[in-house]
Amino acid sequence: MSERSAIKPYLKQCAELIEASLKQSIPSDWDVPDKLKEAMFYSLEAGGKRLRPAFILSAAEAVQGKREALEAAIPVACSVEYIHTYSLIHDDLPAMDNDDFRRGKPTNHKVFGEAMAILAGDALLTHAFHLIPQAARRGGIDAETALAIVEDLAKLAGAPGMVGGQVADMLGEQGITSISELEYIHLHKTSDLIVFSVTAGGRIGGASEKQLELLARYGRNIGLAFQIQDDILDLIGDEQKLGKKTNSDVQQNKVTYPFLIGLEESKAQVERLTQEAKSAILEAGFQDPLRLLEIADYLVQRDH
Ligand code: IPE
Ligand code: IPE
Ligand code: MG
Ligand code: MG
Ligand code: MG
Repeated sequence: MSERSAIKPYLKQCAELIEASLKQSIPSDWDVPDKLKEAMFYSLEAGGKRLRPAFILSAAEAVQGKREALEAAIPVACSVEYIHTYSLIHDDLPAMDNDDFRRGKPTNHKVFGEAMAILAGDALLTHAFHLIPQAARRGGIDAETALAIVEDLAKLAGAPGMVGGQVADMLGEQGITSISELEYIHLHKTSDLIVFSVTAGGRIGGASEKQLELLARYGRNIGLAFQIQDDILDLIGDEQKLGKKTNSDVQQNKVTYPFLIGLEESKAQVERLTQEAKSAILEAGFQDPLRLLEIADYLVQRDH
């Protein structure tokens, strides 16, 4: 990715890189039940924008200013896609959002049944923690960096992070009346995995503590903007483009930004948060901040 392309081809290139690696991400000598592997790869290979991996790659590039960081970043980028995909399988279950379509296909439980969908999610989650040490084994990062990345993932994807956010989202159905409660949900269910991604990329690229803090600020704001946009698209998006059904939030009695502050104010909020995110990147003094800035701008315009 040394030649400067526009942001869309760049993201496509990141997705292709990750997809090639996802295919080989389970050791071939592991004895895994065929049906489990099928259920895992059904959702992993269903597509998806692969944004979180792109955040890892572009943050590593931003810090290093060159593509050497990429090789080490790939197993970590796969690991975040494993976590994200598991979270979507579980999010769609009848006990949660009860959705029938995801990434343009019937949801995992619709095809494999609820028990297998739960277990496929469990297996994806567990495998993420196998992948990160592989970056160190390949010699791309030192063991200390791998440890820090594993600790970050356990926290940001776990009880105080994404899972905690999903719990608050579930408990909050109907009952939320303040923007700060809703912000808590969005910051954890969505921002935390994006914070993980940019921070992991930063660690791989050799960012300073101050730069890691600024990357986390970028991730928090981008994640919040991303989830508000997801809420907006749930109301006014195109099902074909989104690859999932719209009006899921209304059906599940979710309190969303558009519900609480209206569509126009929600859109304005996405703009404000994006500017805030970009200012963190500009403050960090990275060698090559362009991709992180471009992704921020690209996401404001997204329709899927
Ligand atoms: C959907 O994430 C779930 C949210 C956190 C809003 P994405 O919109 O990144 O989903 P994929 O990976 O492209 O399918
Ligand atoms: C999901 O939020 C967040 C996670 C999966 C952690 P949503 O429930 O809004 O995501 P979609 O709209 O189903 O993709
Ligand atoms: Mg949900
Ligand atoms: Mg959902
Ligand atoms: Mg949604």
